[in-house]
Amino acid sequence: MVMRSDQHTLILGLVLGFLVLLGGCHGKSLKKNFYRKSCPQAEEIVRNVTRRHVAANFTLPAKLLRMHFHDCFVRGCDGSVLLNSTKNTTAEKEAIPNLTLGGFDVIDDIKAELEKKCPGVVSCADIVALAARDSVSIQFNRSIWEVQTGRRDGTVSLASEALANIPSPFLNFTALQRNFANKGLNVRDLVVLSGAHTIGVGHCNAFSVRLYNFTGKGDQDPSLNSTYAASLKTQCRNLTDKTTFVPMDPITPLRFDNRYYAVLEQRRGLFETDAELLTNSTSARITREMLSSHKFFTEFRKSIKKMGAIGVLTGKSGEIRKVCSKIN
Ligand code: HEM
Ligand SMILES: *[C@@H]1O[C@H](CO)[C@@H](O)[C@H](O)[C@H]1NC(C)=O
Ligand SMILES: *[C@@H]1O[C@H](CO)[C@@H](O)[C@H](O)[C@H]1NC(C)=O
Ligand SMILES: *[C@@H]1O[C@H](CO)[C@@H](O)[C@H](O)[C@H]1NC(C)=O
Ligand SMILES: *[C@@H]1O[C@H](CO)[C@@H](O)[C@H](O)[C@H]1NC(C)=O
Ligand SMILES: *[C@@H]1O[C@H](CO)[C@@H](O)[C@H](O)[C@H]1NC(C)=O
Ligand SMILES: *[C@@H]1O[C@H](CO)[C@@H](O)[C@H](O)[C@H]1NC(C)=O
Ligand SMILES: *[C@@H]1O[C@H](CO)[C@@H](O)[C@H](O)[C@H]1NC(C)=O
Ligand SMILES: *[C@@H]1O[C@H](CO)[C@@H](O)[C@H](O)[C@H]1NC(C)=O
Ligand SMILES: *[C@@H]1O[C@H](CO)[C@@H](O)[C@H](O)[C@H]1NC(C)=O
Ligand SMILES: *[C@@H]1O[C@H](CO)[C@@H](O)[C@H](O)[C@H]1NC(C)=O
Ligand SMILES: *[C@@H]1O[C@H](CO)[C@@H](O)[C@H](O)[C@H]1NC(C)=O
Repeated sequence: MVMRSDQHTLILGLVLGFLVLLGGCHGKSLKKNFYRKSCPQAEEIVRNVTRRHVAANFTLPAKLLRMHFHDCFVRGCDGSVLLNSTKNTTAEKEAIPNLTLGGFDVIDDIKAELEKKCPGVVSCADIVALAARDSVSIQFNRSIWEVQTGRRDGTVSLASEALANIPSPFLNFTALQRNFANKGLNVRDLVVLSGAHTIGVGHCNAFSVRLYNFTGKGDQDPSLNSTYAASLKTQCRNLTDKTTFVPMDPITPLRFDNRYYAVLEQRRGLFETDAELLTNSTSARITREMLSSHKFFTEFRKSIKKMGAIGVLTGKSGEIRKVCSKIN
């Protein structure tokens, strides 16, 4: 009986401890319009500067959306993707999957503008999340997903961690699913967020093995649409071409829409990881669901909100960088 009561006390203690922990996390979580009081114009400034850059360079929405993804998958969304290498360390930027990351100048410009208005207030991590949303949203003339704010900036950026955490385009479904699960994202999030490949480009070296040497016998990936493969081969002439790039959504490459899924169904997904989404019955079913545009936009809002909250630093953790490419 004594044992029983002790056990009850223990369980009660654990439950209470858990609730306190939950409460603590809640108090420190992201919120809508975090800068309402500290920098009321923050979000408008981000939007304005982003618009100005995108108006001059249509490739930027894809760059900024991918930057947000790469930031969140390495040490959480803490702006670590923006840091330059130091004497001691090789930064995430220098890692192989950084390949062709871009838009850093946009972030620097936004930051400079914000520092003029409200010095030391708005984090670089929040700027990345907002700029991704704002750049993609321009074609809709309204924000197409909500971005909560209150992230703080990390102080560490390591190329080795980018290599370990950013999924390679050669992963199979199991490995891809595990990579997302490690970030608290499920198969639905995986399929829905892959829809980001409705804009932007891929360089030949990320997929040309599917065209020229899939199993090491000079063969082609049988899961790739052969008509499409023939057309890709006219652009990517050999296995070593690292400079040519092609749109991932050949139908509407600049438009953020759900066409990615129609492309997948036609076996025209560019990377092995895109094609792999059709190999598992659950993810294949979710892919078909996303053929409904309304469903895609609804689901994308949910999944990118989850992605934007991965491992965030809040409260007193981290810092607010003065310059996004270096720690204070
Ligand atoms: C599912 C795992 C993913 C893999 C393996 C993957 C891989 C890649 C690769 C290899 C490229 C081409 C880079 C280049 O050659 O220039 C790319 C581009 C891109 N990715 Fe992903 N990605 C994944 C998920 C995501 C997610 C979750 C997002 C955002 C929510 C995203 C957004 C983008 C965008 C927008 C581009 C185009 C970038 C540009 O035009 O420069 N990707 N991705
Ligand atoms: C943002 O741009 C709009 C439209 O050009 C302008 O009216 C507004 O004053 C700008 N806001 C800030 C904070 O710069
Ligand atoms: C970080 O690197 C970029 C590109 O090399 C450079 O333009 C920028 O000035 C660097 N930032 C700092 C703080 O040195
Ligand atoms: C270099 O590493 C040392 C020891 O790990 C650390 O104290 C120092 O701050 C680092 N310097 C830079 C510029 O990162
Ligand atoms: C990406 O890393 C390579 C080295 O692996 C480096 O030459 C290149 O400048 C980096 N790209 C960016 C945008 O930092
Ligand atoms: C557009 O932005 C990308 C990414 O920063 C950059 O590589 C490219 O040179 C820019 N193009 C123009 C015309 O400025
Ligand atoms: C975009 O929205 C603003 C305000 O909601 C409106 O004034 C403007 O005319 C719209 N522009 C377009 C191209 O629809
Ligand atoms: C998927 O990739 C992992 C890691 O490379 C490997 O261990 C596994 O056997 C692969 N699974 C299938 C079904 O090919
Ligand atoms: C194709 O892959 C095989 C096995 O990895 C390799 O021996 C061969 O050299 C590759 N062919 C080309 C053209 O790279
Ligand atoms: C591969 O293709 C690229 C781009 O077309 C070309 O510059 C390069 O010389 C080719 N390399 C070989 C080994 O054929
Ligand atoms: C291959 O792509 C073409 C469009 O380019 C499409 O008409 C055809 O149905 C696709 N084939 C398969 C097997 O999906
Ligand atoms: C599909 O993926 C889910 C989630 O990883 C897994 O539970 C299920 O066994 C997979 N189904 C098949 C047929 O491989």
